[in-house]
Amino acid sequence: MNPADISAAVREHVRSVSLGESTGHDWWHVSRVAGLAATISEAEGGDPLRVELTALLHDVFDEKFYDGNAGAALSDLVEQLGIRAAFSDMVWDGIIYDILHLGFKGVFDRTPLSPEGQIVQDADRLDAMGAIGIARTFAYGAVKGQEIYNPESGCVEICTPEEYRNVNRSTINHFYEKLLLLRDRMNTDTARKIAERRHRFMEEYLAEFFAEWEYTVSCSRRDQDGCAGKKNQSG
Ligand code: NI
Repeated sequence: MNPADISAAVREHVRSVSLGESTGHDWWHVSRVAGLAATISEAEGGDPLRVELTALLHDVFDEKFYDGNAGAALSDLVEQLGIRAAFSDMVWDGIIYDILHLGFKGVFDRTPLSPEGQIVQDADRLDAMGAIGIARTFAYGAVKGQEIYNPESGCVEICTPEEYRNVNRSTINHFYEKLLLLRDRMNTDTARKIAERRHRFMEEYLAEFFAEWEYTVSCSRRDQDGCAGKKNQSG
């Protein structure tokens, strides 16, 4: 198979298994990540086919949703799609290693990846930022049954990978434990530049979110004060 046919076979498969997925890890996420990764790779280098296949396959057996041995499942899929000959076994091992380690597992995670893996990691992280990142975060939170925000529990600090996976907290918390940290964790200069605007937009969004929340709280306080509030105003 030539690179175009390999790419088409993988695209077709991934599209068929991820189209309509509702947590923000759907085909359109994969497709955006592949596009971003190609853009970054044009400036930063790397084997284009390796970048593309890593991007297309990066969420197929994501540990958030897949309970089995993701490495073995990926290896079987390569066989099933008939694309094993595209790379040597050693390169496939590297690709699978990258895919298993490129997801965000908390601030403590700094697993080294190949140059192609780093590019796809940047692309995946860029798609978790900005307007699209915000939409995906609330979609994921809803599927996981999380509250949007709870001022009584406030911001929950996450200290270990286990807490990152298991502690129940609001979706707004996710901005502070992950999304706002991504800009400073990009591997490539190209991604760092793209991340800048997306980061600013998330900060503006949060400022607006909390301004509206505060405004609503002060309105209900005024209502509770009722006549007393008015009396104070008139002296
Ligand atoms: Ni992803």
